[in-house]
Amino acid sequence: MINVRKAQLSDVPRMMPLLNEYAKQAEILPRMEADVYQSIRDWVVAEADGKIVGMGSLLIMWGDLAEIRSLVIDSARQGQGVGRAIVSQLLAEARALGLPRVFALTRKPGFFLKMGFQLTRIEHLPRKVQKDCVFCPKFHACDEVAVLMPLDAATTSKHMLDLSGLKSAAQSQPIIPLNSRQQR
Ligand SMILES: CC(C)(COP(=O)(O)OP(=O)(O)OC[C@H]1O[C@@H](n2cnc3c(N)ncnc32)[C@H](O)[C@@H]1OP(=O)(O)O)[C@@H](O)C(=O)NCCC(=O)NCCS
Repeated sequence: MINVRKAQLSDVPRMMPLLNEYAKQAEILPRMEADVYQSIRDWVVAEADGKIVGMGSLLIMWGDLAEIRSLVIDSARQGQGVGRAIVSQLLAEARALGLPRVFALTRKPGFFLKMGFQLTRIEHLPRKVQKDCVFCPKFHACDEVAVLMPLDAATTSKHMLDLSGLKSAAQSQPIIPLNSRQQR
């Protein structure tokens, strides 16, 4: 059975191998163990048979914006709904905090679209650009796609792309490119 729950400090040593594996594959940014301890309240993990088989974090950026980061599922457990369960829990936390929007930057937009996110443009997330992207060495060669989940009715459709542009937007580079977000 897979148990999806908030992370605890004692999980961190068991989280690191999966985080390091996907960082090595450049699927996520490297996360230092100290950074994971410091941000432990941001994390949701999936545990099975005493092993951490998936995780993701919700980084609050401002009063109206948070980012899903470092979402990784053990390759042996992919396609079993673990990613969905982790994202659902992170979104539930965001709702409980009163956040109107949650975004992710991803090379797997198809997964996030399945979760109900919509394609957006990074310029609709200026706080992200100002905080991280402008410092990124890949600022001009980014292959990530911005996806956004509006959590309240007031969040307008101005953030969303026309879904008829889905294919080309998912395949092309964002207008303001970004990739390597700075670690906290
Ligand atoms: C992307 C990832 C998080 C998905 O997690 P997962 O547990 O395998 O996904 P789930 O089983 O919860 O899938 C939920 C739905 O999304 C779909 N889906 C999963 N990965 C997908 C992808 N890459 N593209 C399109 N759809 C995808 C599934 O088919 C499923 O659809 P369904 O509900 O219609 O059956 C996982 O494959 C992963 O860790 N990949 C490597 C690391 C990575 O790229 N992380 C993303 C960083 S932003």
